[in-house]
Amino acid sequence: MMDDRDWASFKQKLKAKTEIDLDLYKEAQMKRRVEGYVRKKGFDSSAQYFDSIVNSKADFDAFIEHLTINVSEFFRNSDKFLQLEKEVIPYLLERSPKLNIWSAGCSIGAEPYSLAMILKEVTPGKQHRILATDLDIEILAKAKRGVYLPNEIQSMTKERVVRYFTQNTDGTYAVQNEIKRLIEFKRHNLLKDRFESGFDLILCRNVVIYFTEEAKFDLYTNFFKALKPGGILFVGGTESVINCRQIGYTTYKPFFYQRPLE
Ligand SMILES: C[S@@+](CC[C@H](N)C(=O)[O-])C[C@H]1O[C@@H](n2cnc3c(N)ncnc32)[C@H](O)[C@@H]1O
Repeated sequence: MMDDRDWASFKQKLKAKTEIDLDLYKEAQMKRRVEGYVRKKGFDSSAQYFDSIVNSKADFDAFIEHLTINVSEFFRNSDKFLQLEKEVIPYLLERSPKLNIWSAGCSIGAEPYSLAMILKEVTPGKQHRILATDLDIEILAKAKRGVYLPNEIQSMTKERVVRYFTQNTDGTYAVQNEIKRLIEFKRHNLLKDRFESGFDLILCRNVVIYFTEEAKFDLYTNFFKALKPGGILFVGGTESVINCRQIGYTTYKPFFYQRPLE
């Protein structure tokens, strides 16, 4: 078990070396994870574990993977994606024919690819911008590759699978280039890096689960500033922006928050 001094030292060294600030994550969960790792790997102390994180790429990647949890699926919460397609996107298109969209915490790419498919169907032949970012470089590489196992695409309709994927000889499914080229993938830490602005739509779904309340408040405030007036933030199926009014949002629909028009 780590005492407070060990934990403080682990956090401080990690921040100095990797720019990941564990103070912005819920302490109990993070501590449990690190302790679990120390035990599982047979290290004597968190200091020894820290050394292995900074000296071995494999251990560093495993730690980040542990910290970030990459579970995702195409059209996650399909009823909400249907609302996005039938109501929110047409509403946004009335004001901006070329949408600027950010999928923040995009994991394996299922979220931005789902968006690209919707936009292709709703506005055939039109060009939009989809920025997709994540903290985890390994998962971004998978997202960029756009190759999925059958179980990773099972939440999609058969029609969309046939239309947007090519089946490889090994049984995996590759997203077609016409969809891939609509997305710009980039590494970005939501708790540290600068935000772009001028977005019509931001998706940040199932990302903030381990963030502290303060970190969430700051994040949702930064998203507010990153949205155009009239722009919309789309959150996960079990999430809500607690202080939305204080930040300035109005609720467009449940799970969709709007920066009011000026
Ligand atoms: C559970 S996945 C959610 C994926 C997708 N948005 C969805 O709803 O299916 C959470 C993602 O958030 C990313 N993440 C966690 N902390 C982050 C941070 N500080 N900055 C950027 N991305 C982060 C993780 O790497 C992970 O890929």
